[in-house]
Formats: sequence, structure tokens, C-alpha cells
Amino acid sequence: MIFTVAIDGPAAAGKGTISKAVAAHFGFAHLDTGLLYRAVGAKVLGGADPVVAARSLDPSDLENASLRTPAVAQAASEVAVIPEVRAALVDFQKAFARRTGGAVLDGRDIGTVICPEAEVKLFVTASPACRAERRFAELRAGGMDVVYETVLEDVKARDARDSGRVAAPLKPAEDAVLLDTSDLTVAAAVARAIAVVAAHPAARDSV
Ligand code: CDP
Repeated sequence: MIFTVAIDGPAAAGKGTISKAVAAHFGFAHLDTGLLYRAVGAKVLGGADPVVAARSLDPSDLENASLRTPAVAQAASEVAVIPEVRAALVDFQKAFARRTGGAVLDGRDIGTVICPEAEVKLFVTASPACRAERRFAELRAGGMDVVYETVLEDVKARDARDSGRVAAPLKPAEDAVLLDTSDLTVAAAVARAIAVVAAHPAARDSV
């Protein structure tokens, strides 16, 4: 079967956790598209040209542990405004979305640009303070010495850049279901997302 779940939303809204859980529940493959931009950002921090880096991206580049750092997140959102960088990553994402067996992709432009024909579109969001708290806890748990205020500023700066850019700006697709996770536990947010996907007749057959 071909079945795409597009999950978009701002930084640290919970897209990753929800996407992984939805993919596991329905037996679909999962692609964290932010990792592609993070991998390009990491190469640029290492001195590479962004467009060359995007065009020569290798699957092994996605396994770099440093991709989750705040510095790489900022670099990712800086390279993500460059149309040639986005263009270099489109075909891989489109093919992944329509692969046989079902796919969940999370990012900023999945429901609007990469796969407007997705069977289910979710726009996952939460207040900036909630998102910064979650990212702060996540980074701290990973052993990073970060300050909450800086994490909040980083999240806001990235939101502004991601929403304000001309190429594939962050915005909900017209037919996306909005999921605000500010006041939801992880389990509740995951349950809601699964329920939205399960409401599609073709998804029920795959469980
Ligand atoms: O995990 P988090 O939500 O903080 O970020 P991410 O999904 O890993 O994305 C990092 C950056 O890549 C974002 O701030 C965007 O600028 C960019 N991105 C994008 O432009 N389009 C996507 N489909 C995914 C990420």
C-alpha cells in the first residue's frame, strides 16, 4: 500500500516522538527530514558549501551524533532558506513518502510541498515556552550544558526564520489537522495522532 502521514510543525513541538510512535503503530517507515537539513548544516559548520553539501549528502552523514546540538539546529535553519539546498533534498523525500508499505515524514513542509497528496496531515504545535522546556530537558538529559533562556531564544529565532522564509515556509497545509500538545502528556499526544491516522479507512487495514 501507498500511504503517507505528513507531520509538520515548529521546533521541538514533539513531531519526532509522535512520528516514531505512529510509524511503529501502523508498521510504516519513518523519515525525520530535519536530519537532512541538520546534516547539511553540520557540514557547513565544518567549512563546506551548503549547496555542494546538500547535493552530495550520504546516508552515513545522518548518523553523526552531533546533529542534535543547538549549534547544528541553527545552522540547519540557515541552510534551509536556500532554495538550491531544498531542491537537492526534494526527490529523496518524495520517493520516501510514496514508498510501498506506508511512510511517516516529519518536518516543516511535508504536507505543503513534499507530499501535498499525503493521506493524513498533522500540524503539531505547542507554546514556545513549552517547546523550549522540552528541548531544554532533552539537551540536559543528553549531557549538554545549556541554559533555558538561550534554548528559548534559539527556538524563537528558528521559528521566525522557518516561518518567514520564501522557500517552503513553515505553515499548516489547509487540510492539516492541528494538534496542540502544550497541555498534553506524551501518551495523550501520541494517542490523538494515532486516532487521526486510524480514522482514514486505508490505514485501518494496515494494523
Ligand atoms: O527537532 P526540531 O524540530 O528542533 O528541528 P528539526 O526538525 O531537526 O529541523 C531543523 C531545521 O531544519 C528546522 O529549523 C528547519 O529550518 C529545517 N527543516 C526544514 O526546513 N524543512 C524540513 N522539512 C525539516 C527541517
